Amino acid sequence: VSEKLLFKDKVVIITGSGGGLGKAYALEYAKRGAKVIVNDLGGTLGGGGSSSRAADVVVEEIKKNGGIAVANYDSVNVHGDKIVQAAIDNFGRVDILVNNAGILRDVSFAKMTENEFNAVVDVHLNGAYKLCKAAWPYMLDQKFGKIINTASPAGLYGNYGQANYSAAKLGLVGMAETLAKEGFRHNIQVNAIAPLARSRMTENVLPPHILKQLGPEKIVPLVLYLTHESTNVTNSIFELAGGFYGQLRWERSSGQIFNPNPKFFTPEAILNKWKAVTDFKDKSFNEVQHPIQLSDYNDLIVKAKKLPVENDQGKKKIQS
Ligand code: NAI
Repeated sequence: VSEKLLFKDKVVIITGSGGGLGKAYALEYAKRGAKVIVNDLGGTLGGGGSSSRAADVVVEEIKKNGGIAVANYDSVNVHGDKIVQAAIDNFGRVDILVNNAGILRDVSFAKMTENEFNAVVDVHLNGAYKLCKAAWPYMLDQKFGKIINTASPAGLYGNYGQANYSAAKLGLVGMAETLAKEGFRHNIQVNAIAPLARSRMTENVLPPHILKQLGPEKIVPLVLYLTHESTNVTNSIFELAGGFYGQLRWERSSGQIFNPNPKFFTPEAILNKWKAVTDFKDKSFNEVQHPIQLSDYNDLIVKAKKLPVENDQGKKKIQS
């Protein structure tokens, strides 16, 4: 039997945990000994209105079960810093941050207003920024921190009617990948998840027989695993749905290095080599890569430099 992953004395902030996935996380963290800040603005799916009830109900349930939790009703994108302050004021630190709060304003791009675009980016992306920004100095100081950014399959692959949402969601992946690098030396791990689960966000979109299999409790275990002090997974993207857990990564085609002679940098040269540029299978020329950092380009640049080029006299020489 493996050890039980406990969170005793860990302080966890979960934004938007008055319902859906956030609530499921909050209940489980508290059950395992964490001190939880249950943040929720308590508005509608579209982001209208507010109410303290959503967060209060979750805190009451945690307390009834003997757990420790405090409610917070601030909006992530307006007063994200106050949510972190609530953790400091009540519990003296912040160890784990789950950026989970979100809204939807689905509409085809042709009809999407600037307000609909900005409102969604604001809550998801700027909200996560505010929380990360306020929690970061504490995590640096204590040399411990775990952050989860909630992305979405819609962000990774695109989805009709969700230009605003998918822009924000892939933004959260990029932010996680950079914070993972900046946090690396300081023992701060940052990952992104792309869940699919039953909640008010999906109940009118997916058919009932699919929804039945997508209980939010099936998303919880991986989030707790990734944020436990015994794990050091970072810089990664995971997909979770209905009990499936898998990792996603970037893949670069084997590609084609073009002759550095300006003569060859033409759209026609691309046309001739398009198959090679987009080939993910051919290993003869260049290995398909799974880059995880900018410097993973270096190899390609070195290879390009070594390509023989024609000089004016038609003789080959190696580029230096
Ligand atoms: P949900 O609507 O039940 O949960 C979102 C919570 O965030 C709500 O309780 C809401 O009141 C709160 N919230 C909204 N704006 C806020 C703000 N400005 N400040 C503080 N709280 C705010 O939906 P669900 O499904 O639990 O979503 C959780 C996260 O998972 C979201 O980021 C969502 O985009 C993401 N997600 C969910 C998927 C699903 O299949 N349910 C799929 C992919 C991503």
